[in-house]
Amino acid sequence: MNYRDEIIKLRKEKNAIILAHYYQIPEIQDIADYVGDSLGLAQQASQTNADLIVFAGVHFMAETAKILSPETKVVLPDIEAGCSLADSCPPKEFSVFKKKYPGHIVISYINCSAAIKTMSDVICTSGNAKQIVESFSEDQKIIFAPDKNLGAYINNITGRNMILWDGTCEVHDILNTESIINLKIEHPDAKLIAHPECKAQVLELADYIGSTTAMLNFTKTDHTQKYIVATETGILHQMHINSPEKEFIVVPSDETCSCNDCPYMKLNTMEKLYKCMENEIPEIQLDEQTIELAKKPINKMLDISRKLNLIK
Ligand code: 13P
Ligand code: SF4
Repeated sequence: MNYRDEIIKLRKEKNAIILAHYYQIPEIQDIADYVGDSLGLAQQASQTNADLIVFAGVHFMAETAKILSPETKVVLPDIEAGCSLADSCPPKEFSVFKKKYPGHIVISYINCSAAIKTMSDVICTSGNAKQIVESFSEDQKIIFAPDKNLGAYINNITGRNMILWDGTCEVHDILNTESIINLKIEHPDAKLIAHPECKAQVLELADYIGSTTAMLNFTKTDHTQKYIVATETGILHQMHINSPEKEFIVVPSDETCSCNDCPYMKLNTMEKLYKCMENEIPEIQLDEQTIELAKKPINKMLDISRKLNLIK
């Protein structure tokens, strides 16, 4: 079966929109109506008038789409497409943790479950974390969850002292300085660009740190010809499309595996995308109360981002 043609047919028939994260396989990125980072995807999900949102990403992203468009059916090609970072913050434990810090507000990275979002005051993504944190006064006490690497990085660049939940992304946290230093020696003319979910030691070596969209924009406008890329491999597809004359070198996570392919993102295939559109399952379902409570901190993030022109 030609999945591409069938998906295009179904999209029209069902008035569906396909939203894909940059970490999806190239075939899925190429067929999507919108490809973006977590911030862009949340914004798209909040604005669509499609009858079916097909979310080619991971579970927390599809949940976010459902929270923002509760009347619309949201499907995810593989329901097992989770996220180690979201899983590192179980709601029960987080609720106990939160109680230890009275007077603190909670800023949660969007890579968390809907249940964690209901316990948060505002959500952020890697594309707006600095601005969201800085939208609060310097004396505001803050808990930042669930990514300790992103939280430590934001503490570092803002001079804040947020309390950090001890979570990490298995894909970014594994990238090590040794392989990066070796690549830097081998390619002295290359710039290192890194996602803020990487460890502090990796970020210290980086010439540029940003979300997937920010890294992509940087490689488009910067004049260097070669980049060492410390993030998930999926982003290289758009980098090659936008800057075909440039060279992009992925940081290997170790000598034997390409662990910086996110195993959850890569569960989605063209076949699963087709089947989920055809059968309209697996569907994301959330109860009304969760949607109501989780919507507030996400909308707060979108409002702040609009005011600061981070999104339109
Ligand atoms: P972005 O915010 O850059 O899309 O990152 C999402 C993600 O899952 C990173 O691992
Ligand atoms: Fe989660 Fe990391 Fe995969 Fe992003 S790359 S979805 S944070 S496990």
